[in-house]
Amino acid sequence: MGSSSSSFLALWLCFLGLVSMTTLAAPPRRPINVPFQKNYVPTWAGDHIKYYNGGNEIQLYLDKYTGTGFQSKGSYLFGHFSMQIKMVPGDSAGTVTAFYLSSQNSEHDEIDFEFLGNRTGQPYILQTNVFTGGKGDREQRIYLWFDPTKDYHSYSVLWNLYQIVFFVDDIPIRVFKNSKDLGVRYPFNQPMKIYSSLWNADDWATRGGLEKTDWSKAPFVAAYRGFHIDGCEASAEAKFCATQGRRWWDQKEFQDLDGYQYRRLRWVRQKYTIYNYCTDRSRYPTMLPECRRDRDV
Ligand SMILES: *[C@@H]1O[C@H](CO)[C@@H](O)[C@H](O)[C@H]1NC(C)=O
Repeated sequence: MGSSSSSFLALWLCFLGLVSMTTLAAPPRRPINVPFQKNYVPTWAGDHIKYYNGGNEIQLYLDKYTGTGFQSKGSYLFGHFSMQIKMVPGDSAGTVTAFYLSSQNSEHDEIDFEFLGNRTGQPYILQTNVFTGGKGDREQRIYLWFDPTKDYHSYSVLWNLYQIVFFVDDIPIRVFKNSKDLGVRYPFNQPMKIYSSLWNADDWATRGGLEKTDWSKAPFVAAYRGFHIDGCEASAEAKFCATQGRRWWDQKEFQDLDGYQYRRLRWVRQKYTIYNYCTDRSRYPTMLPECRRDRDV
């Protein structure tokens, strides 16, 4: 090979390198349909999970013997984590469907969606929470602007070094900003797995435990699809992500909400919010530091 062709080769390799660097930061795509088995495994009561269409769609069953749950095979440090769920229809009071990220260690970080079922025709409640270093107590509760049992809707979390955003169908319903500068711990160095489960929580879920699960309506069924994962995969003990700063969710446009997203968030605040720990003065007589940012919304 002559020297000109070898330098051409070097240039070409360099170009390929650039292409692969930029694709790391490519804009988000619609979640790709991949089968459950590619990224997830059952956590418990695997016989209460049913698979359809080669695993592209699954159903979780809850009966009086057990609920069930599943988890991602990999652990992730930052990314965009999405699931399409059709909640338990009809009389779902007492049931809870959860979709969350957790590091599951002693000082765990956790990002939670919990869907609290209700009597037929009564609205579901979506409760969210954020744990940092084992400390939670940051509940927010909203009603949804649609019936979550009729169709699939997507529920997702954007997690980068700057913010954690909870989305319902791409509408931000909650933001937890990195407030390290205010002395608030922020999840950044503990990889998390993705979990989902369906279980009976009639001791607290519906009107604080007043409404009991009606087992004559069992089994209760929640349906799932969209098992693609966009995250920086890391070993469970890793302290950082190898591609930190170069993936699409790290880029400038994902470091804060844009004007349109803030308007949607305010709309959720004004019309659908039932409870916000940040405004609960009997529980927190002095405002928690991170809530100063929450108030700015
Ligand atoms: C269930 O419906 C009742 C009555 O409309 C409502 O007060 C409550 O917030 C709803 N959700 C839950 C989970 O109890």
